[in-house]
Amino acid sequence: MNAWDEHSRSVWMDAQVAPDARPLAGSANADVAIVGSGIAGLSIGYELLQRGLSVVILDRGAIAGGMTARTTAHLAPICDDSLASLLSMREIDEARGFQASQSAALDRIEQIVQRHGIACEFRRLDGILCLDPGSEPSILDDEAEAARRLGIAVVRETGLPLRTLTETPCLRYPGQATFHPLAYLRGLCEAMAAQGAALHPRSAVEEIAETADGVRLSVAGGHEVLARHAVVATNAPVHARFAYHTKQAPYRTYAMAFEIERGRLADALYWDTADPYHYVRLTAGADGKDLLIVGGEDHKTGEADDAPRRFAALEAWIRTLLPDLGRETHRWSGQVMETLDYGAYIGRDPDSRRTYVATGDSGQGMTHGVVASLIIPAMIAGEGSEYAAVYHPARTPARAAATFLSENATAVTNMAEYALPGEIASVDELGPGEGGILRDGLNKVAAYRDVDGTVQLRSAVCTHLGCHLKWNAFERCWDCPCHGSHFAPDGSVLNGPAISPLAPARETS
Ligand SMILES: Cc1cc2nc3c(=O)[nH]c(=O)nc-3n(C[C@H](O)[C@H](O)[C@H](O)COP(=O)(O)OP(=O)(O)OC[C@H]3O[C@@H](n4cnc5c(N)ncnc54)[C@H](O)[C@@H]3O)c2cc1C
Ligand code: FES
Repeated sequence: MNAWDEHSRSVWMDAQVAPDARPLAGSANADVAIVGSGIAGLSIGYELLQRGLSVVILDRGAIAGGMTARTTAHLAPICDDSLASLLSMREIDEARGFQASQSAALDRIEQIVQRHGIACEFRRLDGILCLDPGSEPSILDDEAEAARRLGIAVVRETGLPLRTLTETPCLRYPGQATFHPLAYLRGLCEAMAAQGAALHPRSAVEEIAETADGVRLSVAGGHEVLARHAVVATNAPVHARFAYHTKQAPYRTYAMAFEIERGRLADALYWDTADPYHYVRLTAGADGKDLLIVGGEDHKTGEADDAPRRFAALEAWIRTLLPDLGRETHRWSGQVMETLDYGAYIGRDPDSRRTYVATGDSGQGMTHGVVASLIIPAMIAGEGSEYAAVYHPARTPARAAATFLSENATAVTNMAEYALPGEIASVDELGPGEGGILRDGLNKVAAYRDVDGTVQLRSAVCTHLGCHLKWNAFERCWDCPCHGSHFAPDGSVLNGPAISPLAPARETS
């Protein structure tokens, strides 16, 4: 279990992935070293093994314990930021390439499930997009027209058997899918282990350096991995200081699970046109019941710390539609990286010869992670990939210039906080389990009072590029609004791109 899972547990987290894997205990060699063991890193590792290449996969935490353990796993090739938005950002051929690659990723998951007989609830189902009462009805017309231009099958319908939605216009997309993400990755890891993959949890990579004929990775504990190529699949890249971070922005999203009688709601992926949108799916629960998973209430990381209000809003929304919904079983939160044009950045790092990157999940990271496995292993093997151009890491779309400026305003505003007072005057204001920012002379201090009363004081300056941290009361960690790093109250890194822990702060009262 990773440090923050205690306060924010998804429905998947009881499934252990690669429970026998051990931290790196010495130096290692491989054809390819993969940093990060989420859906992206593990899928890339699997495809490299199929080409006869050896892989070592390193993760700072548990295997598949990052955002992949917090997903809701809608496997929807349909661009989740809307097809019309996709077409507004990309040329028609690129948008078609995007949709084709997302569909190919889904097909690849299905093949792997069948090939290895992975019991992970994988199933094809429909995706249903419903008009939110606050949206213009024309939004569905635009979506249907965009689907037509992209060659995507869609059916117009009216009404769902849900209170308040019986007359609502909807679009139904056949051929989407879903699964239990960690059960799938457990099966994938078993298949990889049988092919000789080396998986190392609790083995943080601290530096990646290119050498004359390969790469050298420095790993916590003083170990080293030498490989011919490196793949950085850490969700937010830990190796590049600026290149990607100005082109994507971290958003926090919330999810809850409730018991529901099996058969009460048709098995499908549901989402609506609200902004931020709601998303709903089903998974198997206990005692012959299903669990309904509902998500949404997104906000930019660090710009709100009101999780109880957001969970209450999610619950009110879903109980209005399904008044007979059962008890809540889980609530959790996680982070997605939104890019300028809704596509991930996947491929060889433009500044490197032997380092590849997969980042910019765009809230569609389950399929994007598998798309990365269709592109990067092919590039490493010298085969080329028909999808590479769509996801080229160096692209900065001209049509997204306004978004680029507004997203990067966060870093500028955040830097101004150096001059502002702290949020609390003294640690005495902190109750058990609470955190707050203190001013100490010219410095800002991240102060946390443990449930046993112990106070932890760390610098409130993110070790990535120096932004000021914000307290996340729900997950009891420090979030960086600039590029999405998270730190535990003791200063250790929970989520990249940061690599180094927060500096200690001197005792403050
Ligand atoms: C609530 C929620 C709902 C979502 N719903 C959907 C959905 O329905 N459909 C969909 O497609 N997507 C969804 N997403 C997004 C999707 O889950 C993620 O984009 C995806 O899981 C990211 O996978 P990843 O492999 O890129 O990153 P991760 O799973 O985060 O893996 C990255 C790994 O890198 C490791 N790492 C970081 N730094 C280092 C280091 N220095 N050394 C070694 N290891 C390191 C981390 O520990 C982590 O395990 C959702 C996300 C959330 C939070
Ligand atoms: S994550 Fe980049 S400054 Fe914090």
